[in-house]
Amino acid sequence: MPSASIEPIHAIHEPWTPDTWRARAGVQMPSYPDAEALENSFNELKALPPLVTSREILSLKQQLADAQEGKAFLLQGGDCAETFAECSSDTITNRLKVLLQMSLVLVHGLKLPVVRVGRFAGQYAKPRSADVETRDGVTLPCYRGDIVNSPEFTEAARRPDPRRMIRAHARSAMTMNFVRSLIDGGFADLHHPEFWDLGWVRESPHAADYQKMVANIGDALRFMETLAGRRIQSFSRVDFHTSHEALLLPYEESQTRQVPRADGWFNLSTHFPWIGMRTAALDGAHVEYFRGIANPIAVKIGPSVSPDALLRLIDVLNPHDEPGRLGLIHRMGAGNIADKLPALLDAVKREGRRVLWVCDPMHGNTESTQNGFKTRQFRNIRSEIEQAFDLHAAAGTRLGGVHLELTGENVTECLGGARQLTEADLHRDYRSTVDPRLNYEQSLEIAMLIVRKRGAIEV
Ligand code: PEP
Ligand code: CO
Repeated sequence: MPSASIEPIHAIHEPWTPDTWRARAGVQMPSYPDAEALENSFNELKALPPLVTSREILSLKQQLADAQEGKAFLLQGGDCAETFAECSSDTITNRLKVLLQMSLVLVHGLKLPVVRVGRFAGQYAKPRSADVETRDGVTLPCYRGDIVNSPEFTEAARRPDPRRMIRAHARSAMTMNFVRSLIDGGFADLHHPEFWDLGWVRESPHAADYQKMVANIGDALRFMETLAGRRIQSFSRVDFHTSHEALLLPYEESQTRQVPRADGWFNLSTHFPWIGMRTAALDGAHVEYFRGIANPIAVKIGPSVSPDALLRLIDVLNPHDEPGRLGLIHRMGAGNIADKLPALLDAVKREGRRVLWVCDPMHGNTESTQNGFKTRQFRNIRSEIEQAFDLHAAAGTRLGGVHLELTGENVTECLGGARQLTEADLHRDYRSTVDPRLNYEQSLEIAMLIVRKRGAIEV
């Protein structure tokens, strides 16, 4: 039920269709110079087959409802932005492997099922702090992600091109197809977790712990299969779901469909879209679009959101308190979280609203080095996660998952971690066109610290 202390939101009662967002203020979207080209791409996209099914979406919603109740833990992670160029076999395989390894660490350590959600197969649109960029007196539109334009600083590259939406759809489908084939082909088979190793695991400071855990899991599995007297097939594959920031609404609208035998409208481009911090205005186009779709959805919550504003947002996005419907991804920064989060937790708890709380320890901790690299310190990321667990425990709420920017590559983008990456290391392999990501080792380290921290507070 909507909370009594909050005035009813008019929008909830207004009719919704996939295009009602068009009447609202839409920020962080490009203006396409050629309206006819936009219309053509939009119509082409509408006719293309979807990337996911309503059945998968509803199954994820149930799993997220479990995470909300403490019966599972959400691991959501991937690149800040995918690029067309990096839609390659190695990048996809390594990213999947690191997520699988992290989930193995979490399942083993937390003794809970892990809901695995990639930030991939559609994470191509980016919010930016300014609409334009000026270099040497030349001003051009900013780069908004590969689904909109291209990062090179030329007029042609920066011109928003609607046909890029069709390429993004195709790249997303290729990524999804490869992930599904890898998993169906036994890539995540628990009978062979040794195949999940990336070459680096052997040199990692965490190698011994990880290998020991893999051996334990193998022993446990053989023991159970001996008892059962047969091979347990359900250990041969895992579920994997996808998510992206649904920022570019013409694209999202084109993928919003009704299906036989299920109620409502589904965004069939991804299982679990989220609203970014910069587009979460209550009366804005993004909230209007999201309120009407049947997917599980999430919204990023930054330090400027007040308890009242949050309750209003919940009223609009999840008016009936449907379990598994709404994730609140807080991203406060290590220096802000203790100050800002408790009032939000208290308000949501007081009003009895059902949400899945998730911690994004990345986006509140971005900084720039003196030589211009955007980076994040491992110790701040770690501190935000640890504080989040403590603050939820103190408020009597539950942290049900984490949202991370990571890669399976050996990049040098975030500082610190077991190998103590320093500013001098950043230039060695800095690849991100937007935010700095945890590398494979730092990612595994985060999974291990989640296990230690959650075990210590015993939520
Ligand atoms: C992101 O997730 O890449 C992002 C831009 O996050 P936020 O909306 O929280 O700033
Ligand atoms: Co980011």
